[in-house]
Amino acid sequence: MDWGLQNRISSIIKPQNNRALMLAVDHGYFLGPTEKLENPKKVIAPLLRYCDSLMVTRGVQRSSVPATTDTPMVLRVSGGSSIIGEDLSQEDITVSIEDAIRLNASALAMSIFVGSKYEYQTVVNLGKLVSEAEKYGLPVLAVTAVGKELGKDARYLSLACRVAAEQGAHIVKTYYCDNFEKVVQSCPVPIIVAGGKKIPERDALQLTFNAIKSGAVGVDMGRNIWQSEHPVSMIKAVRAIVHSNQNVDQAFKLYKKLVGEESKSKKRKPSKNKSNKPNQNKPNTSTKNKSNKPN
Ligand code: R5P
Repeated sequence: MDWGLQNRISSIIKPQNNRALMLAVDHGYFLGPTEKLENPKKVIAPLLRYCDSLMVTRGVQRSSVPATTDTPMVLRVSGGSSIIGEDLSQEDITVSIEDAIRLNASALAMSIFVGSKYEYQTVVNLGKLVSEAEKYGLPVLAVTAVGKELGKDARYLSLACRVAAEQGAHIVKTYYCDNFEKVVQSCPVPIIVAGGKKIPERDALQLTFNAIKSGAVGVDMGRNIWQSEHPVSMIKAVRAIVHSNQNVDQAFKLYKKLVGEESKSKKRKPSKNKSNKPNQNKPNTSTKNKSNKPN
């Protein structure tokens, strides 16, 4: 594997423990202003230092992520359909490699829709994207998107993940399911698990734990973090499972402790800035210490 490709993958899947915590904020590309992600800048700012990488579209990266960050960007480069359109599976590549390089992307991400009307188009697009991206040492993360009509069982997900890996995807993102070990074992490249729709915090921690126990390298979680009432406490708890090998009880205990501390400190220090808008003129101290990522 070429140095650049390996180096970029290492920035996403940490070589110390072969684990990854990706924060997904790319939902707007087909969902528009998703609940609690209406203002991506506000959502991303407090969470950026706790994720290993951010999955994002170019529009949100340019408008809502500080260019001073050292968090690697996993850039979504596919799209073309929206939730109210005819068929969500009709996606194409919408971002050029040149623009991805300008954006200093650490990886490119796109969806494939195995078993859907546009299976052929999306799978061929993946193959072509890998060929192009490898010229520049850019890894490709393939997302096995699931339409309404497709199941999320191990049989289907094994097929979809394997199809992605066979086209040359360097990382595959998929959904967790029963017998997930089967999906992992038959996929020759690392698998990362999407969080899926919002569920109670303890259940999302259980999903994280189960996914890793079954062999996933980590999670690419969105809604279960930023749709939580306590996104920072939640990402820290998820992180404790991914990077500190905590079990679900330990991580949930941590979550509750952090939530308790959060509400105590809110009571102690009533906010001076009533509108709760970040001060654009002041450096954001929470993301200033670049090398200070928690373990
Ligand atoms: C789908 O829109 C995106 O690929 C998301 O990045 C993915 O579904 C992960 O986000 P969530 O944890 O909210 O499912």
